[in-house]
Amino acid sequence: MILADKLIRDHTLTRTEYIELLDAGGDAGVRTKLREEAVRLRKQYYGDKVFTRGLIEFTNYCKNNCYYCGIRCGNQKARRYRLSREEILDCCENGYGLGFRTFVLQGGEDSYFTDERMAEIIREIKARYPDCALTLSIGERPCESYRLFREAGADRYLLRHETADEAHYRKLHPENLSLSSRKRCLYDLKALGYQVGAGFMVGSPGQTNAALAEDLCFLEELHPAMVGVGPFIPHHDTPFAEAEAGSVEQTLFLLSVIRILLPKALIPATTALGTLDSQGREKGLLAGANVVMPNLSPLKNRKQYDLYDNKICTGEEAAECRDCLSRRVESVGYCLSAERGDAVL
Ligand code: 5AD
Ligand code: FES
Repeated sequence: MILADKLIRDHTLTRTEYIELLDAGGDAGVRTKLREEAVRLRKQYYGDKVFTRGLIEFTNYCKNNCYYCGIRCGNQKARRYRLSREEILDCCENGYGLGFRTFVLQGGEDSYFTDERMAEIIREIKARYPDCALTLSIGERPCESYRLFREAGADRYLLRHETADEAHYRKLHPENLSLSSRKRCLYDLKALGYQVGAGFMVGSPGQTNAALAEDLCFLEELHPAMVGVGPFIPHHDTPFAEAEAGSVEQTLFLLSVIRILLPKALIPATTALGTLDSQGREKGLLAGANVVMPNLSPLKNRKQYDLYDNKICTGEEAAECRDCLSRRVESVGYCLSAERGDAVL
């Protein structure tokens, strides 16, 4: 039996089989078959709904120095900003009025936002919008901090593992970061009852099909509720300035494979995919993705949350972004849902 059929039947392959499948990923027949199955599965569990998350990029200060990222602490050209508590709440108010029922607070690892400050913001958002889900994406913290945030009302946590291959992890990150602590955070978060999102970039420097196979095995093992996967895009003020961007095709292929591995997962069609290809997010939805994350950050700071070059949606108000995405979603036969959009069980 060919591997694509085995994946469709069993929802799993061995590490070696994943490598083989990825090596054959260029085959148009295999790609089409997996894409069709991915769409069938997402329709089975989520119909034609696409869930929407209001993304609030609330600080671009970061103590980390990941080689791929434009807001790494070593980038002295980054213009730093952090939103005040009031500005964050204003973003939520604006978003709530536009129909968002999930807010994602995303930021660099910024020590200004102590556990107490974060918990206070979380409590305030949950008190004002008890019908909304709150997602955090603020990097690695001790388990006790994650517990505090959970008790304050946070529902979900996004923390991409970036790569599950040890050697590759070390190529992307300086020595103070480790794959083992990243994984420990993800398991801590899961144990605390968060809906957890892991994920990785496609085409980051040094990534091999063997590394991608590790990513797929790790996703199977962790079984996260959400998986964020987008192409790597170089940023001009990072050590990877001259590296090549990841491929849209390979990203789409991986989205389909991941949908088959984790049929009920919440999988965004990412902004990075929309940056490399003007139809990238639509293609993502047609490859198995079922979430979009329009930007709710204040217009004045949009360009400063500069993870990679040419990031889209940095000149649009939240309402414009929401309307634009809603049209895009409809153009491929889906509809934006105004629900919280929890993972189905
Ligand atoms: N290209 C694409 N994605 C990137 N991220 C960070 N830098 C880049 C880049 N240059 C992704 C990381 C991170 C998420 C918030 O953004 O995967 O987890
Ligand atoms: Fe932001 Fe199109 S989604 S402008």
